[in-house]
Amino acid sequence: MSTLLPFARQARPVAETRRTTSSDKFISIEGIARRYPAPGGKQTTIFENLWLPVRRGEFVCMIGHSGCGKTTVLNILAGLEAPSEGVVIVDGQAIAGTSLDRAVIFQGHALLPWRSVLGNVAYAVSSRWRKAKRAEVEARARKAIATVGLAGSEHKRPSELSGGMKQRVGIARALSIEPKILLMDEPFSALDALTRGTLQDEVRRICVETGQTVFMITHDVDEAIYLADRIVLMTNGPEAKVAEIVENPLPKDRDRTQLHHAPGYYALRNHLIDFLVTRSRTLRDAMPEGYDPMHPPVVRPSLSEADAAAITAEKPALRA
Ligand SMILES: Nc1ncnc2c1ncn2[C@@H]1O[C@H](COP(=O)(O)OP(=O)(O)O)[C@@H](O)[C@H]1O
Ligand SMILES: [Mg+2]
Repeated sequence: MSTLLPFARQARPVAETRRTTSSDKFISIEGIARRYPAPGGKQTTIFENLWLPVRRGEFVCMIGHSGCGKTTVLNILAGLEAPSEGVVIVDGQAIAGTSLDRAVIFQGHALLPWRSVLGNVAYAVSSRWRKAKRAEVEARARKAIATVGLAGSEHKRPSELSGGMKQRVGIARALSIEPKILLMDEPFSALDALTRGTLQDEVRRICVETGQTVFMITHDVDEAIYLADRIVLMTNGPEAKVAEIVENPLPKDRDRTQLHHAPGYYALRNHLIDFLVTRSRTLRDAMPEGYDPMHPPVVRPSLSEADAAAITAEKPALRA
């Protein structure tokens, strides 16, 4: 149900569930687990039985406390490490190692310090299109650099750039290879609030314009609300589980500075914060009866009945 509908029609329980269908699976995480050897010949299970389908063009954020295995999940998606169990299918093929189809943006930007901005991005372009002529490589690199707002800084070295500019180069480098999937591990967490906001705007604009499929880890609830179509909530580790998949009820056409005026914003934000404060722990200890890890509950926080009733009482003209 769209948030653009009259308020009264949103008066319904805070959560509802639906099952995903097989057509939703551009990325299909199927029963993956990660275990490490523990003292006494035992094993520690970081997470297990993790299932998640991602649609083509979807922006998925994963939220959970430190140590629940988010980076590990992202590394598995990148092909940097293998799951102890289970498989990840991307566009019909099981992941086996890294691929230029899946670009990663890390929290640290890992630029080559001796290369210029152009050199760093061109290096990625030429590894993607090995037979491309120099002029084509440069044109592709310049286009990606312009996309992230760095035109004019092509010849600067990383040491001459601010943290935000370095992260822009990391984004340009990832985008320049036209990946099928963009993987981001807390990409903005080291930046000041102003730069973070600007880069969130850039990433959002680029992803909406290009229909990029994105899997991003964040611990910033507001970042997830602004960027994500769906937000995956992980219980605390060890033995972390996907507690819920939260559908973002806010319209796809979002303005970061106006989000807090959108109907449903506070319901969503409160739901996420309540999860991080208490439910991430209590659900780890006891999942609700009938919990099925293959089909975690899909939740769409909406106005509480009391809130909706109060709003309709104030604005009778909006009654459905
Ligand atoms: N090589 C390893 N041996 C044992 N435990 C590890 C190893 N690498 C990671 N872990 C553990 O896996 C857990 C999940 O790590 P990580 O995926 O980085 O979590 P997150 O990104 O959610 O903070 C952590 O508790 C970490 O200590
Ligand atoms: Mg991490």
